[in-house]
Amino acid sequence: MTTCIIEDVRMIIEVSDVVKKYNKLDVLKGVNLSIREGEIFGLLGPNGAGKSTLMNTILGLLRFNSGSVKILGKDFSTHATEIKRKIGYVPQEIAIFETLNAIDNVTYWGRLYGLRGNELAQMVKKALEFTGLWDRRKSKVSTFSGGMKRRLNIACAIVHKPRVLFMDEPTVGVDPQSRNHILESIRIMNKEGTTVIYTTHYMEEIEAICDRVAIMDFGQIIALGTIDELIADHIHEQCLRLELTANTAEAVKVIESFDGVLSFSVNKEILEIKLDKDDSCIPRILEQLIKQHFNIKFMAVEKPDLETVFLQLTGKKLRD
Ligand SMILES: Nc1ncnc2c1ncn2[C@@H]1O[C@H](COP(=O)(O)OP(=O)(O)OP(=O)(O)O)[C@@H](O)[C@H]1O
Ligand SMILES: [Mg+2]
Repeated sequence: MTTCIIEDVRMIIEVSDVVKKYNKLDVLKGVNLSIREGEIFGLLGPNGAGKSTLMNTILGLLRFNSGSVKILGKDFSTHATEIKRKIGYVPQEIAIFETLNAIDNVTYWGRLYGLRGNELAQMVKKALEFTGLWDRRKSKVSTFSGGMKRRLNIACAIVHKPRVLFMDEPTVGVDPQSRNHILESIRIMNKEGTTVIYTTHYMEEIEAICDRVAIMDFGQIIALGTIDELIADHIHEQCLRLELTANTAEAVKVIESFDGVLSFSVNKEILEIKLDKDDSCIPRILEQLIKQHFNIKFMAVEKPDLETVFLQLTGKKLRD
């Protein structure tokens, strides 16, 4: 008898071969992406990679040239109203009315999402409390700080308790306290059942909240997985840094003979030794140096992280 294992994970978003062109510029070059219900999914990429375009395409805000997009198993072209009521969107550019107060801004969005009466009032209160703005609900938005405006932008997007929440760089320009508040709110919403698609240039945010990450560059997804999977798949070396009190050139002769040492260089008296993934040679190198009476002043092993993967794949730093 053969056993068939069926993956019991529902795809809440399915993007297939999506191409988007601006004049002759291919901004999305055949993107394929599946997002699972209940996850916090990070979208990372350098400026101009196509993150916002992809998000706007999924959201039905932008027409695309070919391919297909499904949210909750349905197509925007035939189920726009139904889908819109179940999704929330925090745009990269803050989209709130400066001349209104906070409560009127959130109420406006609540109405657009179809809420009315007592339910509307309750949901508006909840969204403002959730984003820490209830006490300032009567203040005009023009008096708000950048962080407060970002939080209000989020309150407007979550007032109807969406099943899927799209957030395009929601923490740009906010102070650390507001940032932590936003990240914590995302975690809570996710625990309560909201799937989140999140773009950012901050690796720490991805590490703090995301279950899986896609790295985009030049309109394509070039890597996808959990952070651990991305590191395992794309990084094949690590760096050991050593500073000795003297005789660096002599130490090089000892180190170069070890299996696992790929290359090394001396930078301002610090030995930078590139090792393959298997770091079992590190204790043996240290043991040998000590045995031969070299004095080690400083030692550090640089473990690869998401930034290393990003740099390796795109040739750019996350915040170039
Ligand atoms: N309305 C437009 N007309 C022409 N080109 C556009 C338009 N909007 C975006 N682009 C181009 O599409 C590409 C992708 O832009 P997009 O805003 O999606 O990038 P992004 O990854 O979100 O970048 P960022 O990190 O800066 O927000 C860029 O080359 C951009 O110049
Ligand atoms: Mg963008």
